[in-house]
Amino acid sequence: MSPRKEVFSSANVVEPPSINGLGRNVSPELQDREATVDNSLRPTSLAEFVGQEDLKSHLYIVLEAAKRRGQAADHFLFAGPPGLGKTSLASIVAHEMGTGFRITSGPALIRGGDLAAILTSLHSGDVLFIDEIHRLSTAVAEILYPAMEDYKLDIVIGEGPTARSIRLDLPEFTLVGATTRTGMITGPLRDRFGFVARLDYYKVDELQEIVERSGRILGVRTDKAGAREIASRSRGTPRLANRLLRRVRDYVEVKADGNITQTTAREGLEVFGVDELGLDKVDRAILDTLCRTFAGRPVGLSTLAVSVGEQPETIEDVYEPFLMQSGLLVRTSRGRVPGPMAWRHLGLEPPTTTVTLFSE
Ligand SMILES: Nc1ncnc2c1ncn2[C@@H]1O[C@H](COP(=O)(O)OP(=O)(O)OP(=O)(O)O)[C@@H](O)[C@H]1O
Ligand SMILES: [Mg+2]
Repeated sequence: MSPRKEVFSSANVVEPPSINGLGRNVSPELQDREATVDNSLRPTSLAEFVGQEDLKSHLYIVLEAAKRRGQAADHFLFAGPPGLGKTSLASIVAHEMGTGFRITSGPALIRGGDLAAILTSLHSGDVLFIDEIHRLSTAVAEILYPAMEDYKLDIVIGEGPTARSIRLDLPEFTLVGATTRTGMITGPLRDRFGFVARLDYYKVDELQEIVERSGRILGVRTDKAGAREIASRSRGTPRLANRLLRRVRDYVEVKADGNITQTTAREGLEVFGVDELGLDKVDRAILDTLCRTFAGRPVGLSTLAVSVGEQPETIEDVYEPFLMQSGLLVRTSRGRVPGPMAWRHLGLEPPTTTVTLFSE
């Protein structure tokens, strides 16, 4: 397999919902600029990828073994909440293997032919990244299964009784799928991946390392305490850590001497409405709805979404995972209720009558 470095990027990549309100309601130009900075901060090798130690060591072994055999690496599925490094890992797989990298996404592949066109243009060893793979249509999945299993493409020629199916050989390739919804991956699709990994929220130490690294890349002087302050309000999420770093950088350039310290980081984060847990306006609106408006009674997802002016999927994918993990929100079979921490965080007394929880 000859090493080839090509990065194709189909215009069809669907941007994930932005986290923590800091990327919403901004002009397309600003979004573009933010995306460019995002890319400059993206780790390009396993060595630069901070944290997720178990996952990295497994990945290293699988990739090294494939390299030594001169074969394409097995297919990978990366699952986990937005901003934890799934896309970065996919491009790292291509980088470590020294192969080409093609990006598409579940919603962009409408017909089977869309995927067939991409598959037939791959070179031996290439990495094909399908983001939001849980949103693949059945027609596309039917093309994907034999391609993943045997590197074959089944196409049907003609229609009706004269239709016949032919099998084409495809080059060996590595499929990397990413999903924020593990529950929506069907058994048959999951079984075709040789390696399935779930990314976890990052520890504050790891986020601090990410902020320090990004500070160096962006050329902003950040001391350890300043980096830690940003890290501890980043909800365990590297993308958010980088985003908060950029906002604090803006703040210190305009309102201070350009250095990020614990004090200037705190001031900057306060200006942008990020509290000490890293919660933003929408998070607080969710907790407010649960505690104040509904007084701790179970609330359905759609009611909650309407109350805070967000899409139900955004609530489920972006906001809930962190609120649940922090003990601020509990999902029950009858709806969402505030966790014990939520009352305290809003400075409220929990009601004396306890609500029985039936966890899902
Ligand atoms: N382990 C890491 N080390 C350093 N930086 C990281 C790490 N993980 C993520 N990042 C940073 O966070 C940003 C977001 O990561 P990435 O786009 O890979 O997340 P994702 O899981 O694909 O998110 P989404 O589900 O929204 O597509 C990257 O641009 C990168 O700068
Ligand atoms: Mg991604």
